[in-house]
This record gives sequence, structure tokens and C-alpha cells, in this order.
Amino acid sequence: MKKFFLTTAIDYANGSPHLGHAYEKVLTDVVARTMRLEGREVHFLTGLDEHGQKVQQGAKEEGIRPQERCDRIADEFQEMLSKLEISNDDYIRTTETRHQKVVGRILQALFDKGEIYKAEYRGFYSTRAEQFLQEKDKVDGEWPEIFGEVTEITETNYFFKLSKYQNWLVEHIKSNPEFILPAYRQSQVLEFLKEPLNDLCISRPKDRLSWGIPLPFNQDFVTYVWFDALVNYYSAVSSSNYHSDDYWPADLHVIGKDILTPPHAVYWPIMLQASELALPKSILAHGWWTTSGEKMSKSTGETVDPLSLIDRYGTDAFRYFVMREMTVGQDAEFSLERFESRYRADLGNDLGNLLSRLLHMVHSYEDGKVPTAEVNESLEQCLQSQWEKSRDSMLEHFREFRFNLGIEETFSFIRSINKYADDRTPWKLAKSDEPDAKKELRTCLATMVEALRLASVAISPVMPQVHAQIHQRMNLEPTKIWKDELGWGSTLVGKKLQEKIILFPRA
Ligand code: ME8
Ligand code: MG
Repeated sequence: MKKFFLTTAIDYANGSPHLGHAYEKVLTDVVARTMRLEGREVHFLTGLDEHGQKVQQGAKEEGIRPQERCDRIADEFQEMLSKLEISNDDYIRTTETRHQKVVGRILQALFDKGEIYKAEYRGFYSTRAEQFLQEKDKVDGEWPEIFGEVTEITETNYFFKLSKYQNWLVEHIKSNPEFILPAYRQSQVLEFLKEPLNDLCISRPKDRLSWGIPLPFNQDFVTYVWFDALVNYYSAVSSSNYHSDDYWPADLHVIGKDILTPPHAVYWPIMLQASELALPKSILAHGWWTTSGEKMSKSTGETVDPLSLIDRYGTDAFRYFVMREMTVGQDAEFSLERFESRYRADLGNDLGNLLSRLLHMVHSYEDGKVPTAEVNESLEQCLQSQWEKSRDSMLEHFREFRFNLGIEETFSFIRSINKYADDRTPWKLAKSDEPDAKKELRTCLATMVEALRLASVAISPVMPQVHAQIHQRMNLEPTKIWKDELGWGSTLVGKKLQEKIILFPRA
């Protein structure tokens, strides 16, 4: 059966992971977990982009071999994935043989078909950006700062016939509205495609850059990093261990908006089309985490270390924050005050206190056993219908990648559970001598346990650890298939609950 095959960008091995990298992996992980909960078989790929000038230079500065530097950075990124509970099925590194072989195979096939040709090129070259520049890249007659030193050079290189596919690509984008997401980014790509495309220089002479995959048809050159890196999505699933029809084409490439145009929206589809390989169904471009209004990045320096936030607040608090705070596609400014305020209010007060307060009450009033709901009055009916509404809307938001809104639905339901308790006042009912008080108390506890179980199911793709902890308090296994467990009507009656725990201790 065809799996839902989704990928993240593969991170550059030229620095430590920061919040932007962490966010993208969490976002993709939430999609992967959601698809699994929806019953799909998922194949989730991520990895590391290890070739290129910056990696070579970085290693030289440290006085070590590039591979050694990559190995160390790979460890760092993989440690981050594990701390973030990322459920990837594979991790590809572009220095692996399985990858290099496929890049060579694709290049050779394109060369044999005449899609790659040799030509002399004279032009401006930016070492920092590792690319040739054109007059149109100038701003007010000057090379922008981001290109660093720009020099004019003449070089023989190999070129890939991008321009030949320009009209085809425009048609493809126009007739496949799901190809580029969010949809508003399509126009940006189409705008870019209004200008005639230049053929893409896909080689670098070895004397300038040796840290790359040699061209199979000329060993004096290595492959341009983007031509190498993009192929990871295919190389990872095209070895003999995979039945490629089960994996290819990719269903979803999750990337940042900086690498949409041209790499993912132009080079990649044309590379695939020229190689007679099927195109991905969708490319989802997320926005940037910024600090002081600027994109957080290694080169600007001002970065947030995700690992220190995780060590301090826990994996799921981090996952919750980035998914709750970011509208997929747009930018968001990182603020520690906001992080702490969400940690205290949403997680500590609304969710954490609900769990500990409820477990405490069930243990003090019912000896830890979940009672039967004996009455069904408007308070109960209200909560139940609120659940049905917020569940349906949450599912809809998740399918459309509006995770922040989906999460908000669930947390607004969590606040309704607390409100229900404030209206029912079980702590008063427990002390009351009214004839119906005990019935109402049991109803209140049973209703709250069921509502909390449902909320725990709903948060599971975003907060898998918290989900497992809450479920474990109820002696339930973590949820596998969503639809089996999202309906009101628990089988928990009579079950003994575990003692209370503090989910989100004050940091
Ligand atoms: O681009 N906010 O690697 P990379 C959100 N190797 N996302 C961010 C971000 C930020 N501040 N900074 C970076 C590369 N990212 C290539 C990809 S794919 C075949 C090759 C995202 O380490 C960025 O948009 O610079 C990209 O999707 C990913 O992190 C890796 O960035
Ligand atoms: Mg980058």
C-alpha cells in the first residue's frame, strides 16, 4: 500500500540546530502523527545536507576533515530530534553511499539524454552564497551584503536545461492548486516564472570546491549543493530495501519559505520531470521564527537554542508553544515571556491543574474509582456538545495545517471542563447533605474524567508525552487510531485511576 511519504528540509551541516530547525521538525512530526492517527501508513524522512563550500570552510577553520565535522553536527541534530520526540522513520545524510550513488545515477541519465551540457561561463560569483549572480541581483547598482565578496570569473561548467521546462512548470502549478501550500505562495512562484529561466549551473570545479559528489561524467567537477541535496528525498527511498511504488511520489515536502523559490518550486519539479519521476503532491512552505524582527539564523547570530528550552520546560511544552504560536506559512517573533506565559497559563493552570485536581478529587471522594454519571442535565449536555463541536473543528483545522487554531479549539474545550467544575462545585457537593448531592458529585467526576480523556486524545499529535502521561493515569494505552477514541462515551467507569501527578512544574 502507498504510504504517506513526508519529508523535512535537510539541515545544513554548517552550525548547531536552532529554533527554526526545531520548529520545522516538530511541524512535520505533528503532520506525521496526525496521519498515523487517521489510519495512514506513514514514512517520515529527515536528514542532513553535508556538502558544499561552507562545510568545507568550517572544517578547514577547525583543522579537521569535513566528514568529522559533519559527524559531530549530525550527532547534534539527531540529539535534537530525539529530545523533540520526532517520529522520523529514516535519517539521510548526503555523504552516505546510498545517496551519492543515486545522485550519480540521475546525473548520468540526464547527461545521456542531453539535458545536461557543458559550456563556458563568464560571470559574477559569490563565494558566500555559492552561486553565480546576475546584474538583476544588484540593488541600487551594488551587490547586496548577503553575497559577501563578489568576483568576476570565467569557468567551464555543466548546465541543466531548466528553461526548456518553464512553460510546463507554469502549467503544472496552475493546474495543481495543492502543489504549493499555503495557496497564497503560488502567486510568488508564478511571479518568479514570469522572467525567463536561466539554465542551472550544476557543477563546481574541484579545485574550488572538493567537498561534494563528483560528476559521474567528469571527475574534475563536483555536484552543485542544491542538485545534490534535493535528491535526498528520492535517494532515501530508492535503494533495494524499498519497493518504490509504496513510497514515491512524496506526498508532502515541508520546508521554510526561504527555500521555496527557486530550489523546491522550480529546480526540484524540473529535475524530476526531466528524470521522468513523479512529482510530489504538495510542498508546504512555513514561515520564519524571528528575533528582533529578523530571521533567526546562524549567520546573524541571534538564535534561540531549542535544547535549553526543552531542558528547562520539557519536550511537550516546547512542541506546544511552537505549534500554538505559529500560523503555518507566516512568521512569528520568539519571546521568552510569551513562552513562559503559555507555559504557566495554558499548560500549568488550564491543563496541568485540571489533571491533578481531578485525580485528587477522584481519590478523595471515590477511592480512586471512576464513578458512573447518574444525571444528565444541561451542564453535562453543554460540555458534551461543546466537545463535539471543538473536535470536528479541530480535525478540520489539522487537515488544513491550521494547527494553531486546532490546538486552540482543544484548549478552549479544556477551559470549558474547568468551567464545568466551577459550575458543578464538586468540592461543595462532597460536603453537602442534600439528597441529590452524591449523585451529582459522581456525575461531575465521571463527566470530567471522560472530558479529560478526550482532550488527551486530541492533543496527542502535538504533545505525545503528556498524552501518554494522562492516559497512563487512566490506565489507558496511548491512542493509535483517532476515530476509535474521539467519541464521548467512555469505558472508564469502575476503573481505578493512578495517583495525581504534576505535569508542568513551576520552572
Ligand atoms: O536550507 N525559522 O538548510 P538550513 C523557521 N540545507 N525555519 C527556519 C529558520 C527560521 N528562523 N531558519 C531556517 C537548508 N529554517 C538546506 C535545505 S533541502 C533539500 C536543503 C528552516 O539548515 C529553513 O527554511 O539553512 C529550512 O527549511 C530548514 O530550516 C533548514 O535550513
Ligand atoms: Mg538556511
